[in-house]
Amino acid sequence: MRVLLISSSARGHAIADALTRSSQTPEIISVCPQANPGIKALAAQQHVTNIMDFPSVLRIAAEVKPDFAIIGPDDPIAGGLADELLKLDIPSVAPLKSLAQVESSKGFTRNLLASHAIDASPHFRIFTREQSGGDLDALRKEIHRFIEDDLHASYVVKYDALKGGKGVKVSGDHLEAVADGVEYAIECLEECGRVVIEEKLIGVEFSLLSFVSGDRVVDMPIVQDHKRAFEGDTGPNTGGMGTYTDANHSLPFLTPNDVARAKEINRLTAHALLKECGTPYRGILYGGFIAVKDGIRLIEYNARFGDPEALNILPLLESDFVAICLAIIDGTLNESLVSFAKKATVCKYITPKSYPDAKNEKGQVVTFPKDIPENARIFYGDVSQADDGTLHLGGSRTAGIVGIADTIAKAERIAEELCAKVEGPVRHRKDIGTAKLIERRIEMLRKLRE
Ligand code: AMP
Ligand code: GLY
Repeated sequence: MRVLLISSSARGHAIADALTRSSQTPEIISVCPQANPGIKALAAQQHVTNIMDFPSVLRIAAEVKPDFAIIGPDDPIAGGLADELLKLDIPSVAPLKSLAQVESSKGFTRNLLASHAIDASPHFRIFTREQSGGDLDALRKEIHRFIEDDLHASYVVKYDALKGGKGVKVSGDHLEAVADGVEYAIECLEECGRVVIEEKLIGVEFSLLSFVSGDRVVDMPIVQDHKRAFEGDTGPNTGGMGTYTDANHSLPFLTPNDVARAKEINRLTAHALLKECGTPYRGILYGGFIAVKDGIRLIEYNARFGDPEALNILPLLESDFVAICLAIIDGTLNESLVSFAKKATVCKYITPKSYPDAKNEKGQVVTFPKDIPENARIFYGDVSQADDGTLHLGGSRTAGIVGIADTIAKAERIAEELCAKVEGPVRHRKDIGTAKLIERRIEMLRKLRE
């Protein structure tokens, strides 16, 4: 069994770790944009190449002839790498380009939900350059009217293509006056021809990732990410500073109805994708949801594992990950193939001290504790290993440290104790997974729903 793993980062390391635990003992062929010491230790080969250079990836794939590929990040999935691999008879755990629009186009997803009567979107409208007939001033007025009158100036403007997580701007956060939203919308229209403008939802966000094979959907434990750089959810947005899951696979602020509805939305969306695109979605469907006053709404879909979400979820997987991948590919996916330990996890990302802004610490040495207890994991991200074995910081997130225990509180202590032992010019968010922060989420939703 040979698996081509196209992914670096801690997410790639967590995937490699799950593959390694399979009874099918797959040989991992890693293809990644930068060497990853964690994946390298588990892989038979590691090829460092630009993963958006498809001919180069395909050359490696043709040479190693894997049984299947797993594609980690959004860009190659959105660009159609799964389609290209399929032409070489290599199936992927990642959707084809047409289906990956569920992540790469916010407008596609809002239209998909609307046309399949899935009531999970906020009030929204899609504006296109074509509809203006060249008259951007008229469109500017129309957008102004929509934001002011229909959305009551509480709005979100979304660039309608991938933009490295920087395409979404929220009023009261990145934008203030209505005119700011209008200007950003026009900027989006000029750059990519389409913009989605929607109502700003107030509530508590969470992620539900599901394994999907056509109309077969099997859910993973629900996770909460912390996107803000600093403690107390302050500072700029990042790729995610840490995450937690609970032993019951729900989260402390969600009701059973909330969980059931999020699961239903993922199921309905998988069906809608099959109908809309005429071909099965095979991969991970990652729903970014928000629990609001009157239920659950969808913020966005991703067509891949989350980072850090995968760092919490995959260590809990008790069943055989290779068997799940094969079942996703051949359409036999079912619940009996997937079981997760009933444990809580807390993941905290170690990052360079000045992350996400400056890159002052790049190249400096970072040292991780040697003794990792059985109930903890360290997954390496943007860190490089010198010939003498020392690890050096990159500019982005360094490593995710995960604690696993019966309760969130115990998992948090395990993660925190290990984080405190990391030496170097680094930091992490101490508050992730703490009772105080979780209480705040519970309280916020309780008040909203009172
Ligand atoms: P995305 O790039 O789609 O992940 O969006 C980034 C972040 O923007 C989300 O995690 C939310 O915090 C926020 N966001 C997106 N859409 C909305 C919305 N309709 N209401 C409130 N916040 C939103
Ligand atoms: N944790 C957010 C993401 O993977 O998109």
